[in-house]
Amino acid sequence: MGPEPRARGGGSRCVQRARTAPRAAINAAAVLIPDRPTLAGLRERAANCTACPLYRKATQTVFGEGPARASVMFVGEVPGDLEDKAGRPFVGPAGRLLDRCMEEAGIDRGKAYVTNVVKHFKWERAGKRRLHKRPNAGEIQACKPWLEAELTVVQPTALVCLGATAAQALLGRDFRVSRTRGRFVPSNLAPHVLATVHPSALLRTRDDREAEIARFINDLRKVAALRL
Ligand code: URA
Repeated sequence: MGPEPRARGGGSRCVQRARTAPRAAINAAAVLIPDRPTLAGLRERAANCTACPLYRKATQTVFGEGPARASVMFVGEVPGDLEDKAGRPFVGPAGRLLDRCMEEAGIDRGKAYVTNVVKHFKWERAGKRRLHKRPNAGEIQACKPWLEAELTVVQPTALVCLGATAAQALLGRDFRVSRTRGRFVPSNLAPHVLATVHPSALLRTRDDREAEIARFINDLRKVAALRL
């Protein structure tokens, strides 16, 4: 059972701050946010974001995508190689798995808003490949004004954090997906907030991957059951 639903549009949206955040970086993205943000306006401004050094090695900003008033928002970590090239979130292997699981859970991706905590691909070269690297606290903090603005515009009724980076960026550094996975948690970010594993983690699972995928689908079914 989730927490009491909160009235849509009410209250301030307080996103947790990483303790190591460099001040200059916070302001660098925050000054780009329009006074009356729309998704189109945010996307346009985010395309020029240089709030952290990741833009230098990335092809482009990968902004969130989906309807402006989507009732469900999914937040991942950082775009991968294919997302960087396509300019769209979750279109690579993890995205295909997410699509499959959403469909099996009864969630229409076309009606959901899908985004990431960090909007530029972070990578290092390994031969011909560009290997994904996890964003650090400064990069997460620098990018946070974009995620906050997306939340302000979309005002989702249900928010799904995919993996520890999203969960800790939005719910606090002490949040542990391993402990609280698949349960609705109280938050002022949305009436229903749930964290689960990241689909990339499922792709890395060697033992009983299908059972882990089934658990993930089961987590998503709890969101589908809200019938938003
Ligand atoms: N992993 C993420 O966290 N986001 C994407 O967009 C793709 C893979």
